[in-house]
Amino acid sequence: YSSKILSTFLPKLCKINVGTYVPQRNVQVSIIGAAGEVGANVALLVKQNLKVKKLQLYDDNEKVIGIGYELNHISGGPPVFTYAGDSCLGTAIQLSDLVVMVARIPRKPGNTRYQMIGANAPGVLRLCRAMADKNNHALFAIATNPVNSLLPFATALMFKYGCYNPFKLFGVTNIDSARSRAYAASVLGVSARDLYVPVIGGHSDETTVPLYSNLTPSQFQLDACQGETLTRLVRKAGTEVVNHKDGTESATLAVAWAINEFIEALVDAILGNEVMVHCYTANPHYGTRFFSGPTKIGQDGIIQTSRDLPMSDHENYLLNCSIPVLNQEVIHGEEFVQYIE
Ligand code: LMR
Repeated sequence: YSSKILSTFLPKLCKINVGTYVPQRNVQVSIIGAAGEVGANVALLVKQNLKVKKLQLYDDNEKVIGIGYELNHISGGPPVFTYAGDSCLGTAIQLSDLVVMVARIPRKPGNTRYQMIGANAPGVLRLCRAMADKNNHALFAIATNPVNSLLPFATALMFKYGCYNPFKLFGVTNIDSARSRAYAASVLGVSARDLYVPVIGGHSDETTVPLYSNLTPSQFQLDACQGETLTRLVRKAGTEVVNHKDGTESATLAVAWAINEFIEALVDAILGNEVMVHCYTANPHYGTRFFSGPTKIGQDGIIQTSRDLPMSDHENYLLNCSIPVLNQEVIHGEEFVQYIE
């Protein structure tokens, strides 16, 4: 990406104040797993988005009803409607423009994200069934780990149900971009909002590849050693949080913030703008069926996935190491369908 293209899209990616913007159409967003730590925080952030006209919250348990009550005590933003239990899932999603799966069982210290597939695939399966049954027009995003495997898993299911649309199915990996910006900003002594770092690969300690050599704006530069150190930190960031939270949770606040940044971008896209945001999608350009990176999205979904990003020798080396790992995780997700269906 040239810095000209980035400077066009960066404001859209990073914008948070929505001011008094009047949308051309009503946008309805569903958060699935809204009673969890991540889900409730995402819901609170989306409640502040004036472009969203209706917020649907779903969870398996009735705690979500209390969360909805609370959110409706906040002035402004979209009205919040809640749905508890499997039988309400279809109603929670059927008229939405954007459905975001955030429900998950968090990993414990010592676990990898990859090991969470057995715990988290059943929720994705239920949602895919509901999407196939009730809503095949929405943008559909999965932020549940392991994203690297659960997006291929959801793809295989939606394909089986006859309603797979590669342009509308996303894995949410924006947290890696948020962390890459935050770490660079702390070294450079500037605001992370003023920086852009493309991040490619997947979402795990071995597959996330921040491209610090592409840091923009170009007056901010990191040397190779700084870039390699920050890359190690970005890759380990989620695991660090898991270890420090001592088995009680994984990252919830920054993850919710990054999911909301992704939701803001997709809401803008639904409203007719072209936006650039980090996500994991069908993308064959790097030797694996699914790949994460800066992706251009419009009203009908993906316009262009990442390809041909310049990178340093070290970044290229990391990418080459990550591809076989990512391929294995993709195949694991696709094959997992046969264990669960
Ligand atoms: C993260 O990166 O923080 C999330 O993927 C949660 C986790 O398990 O690390």
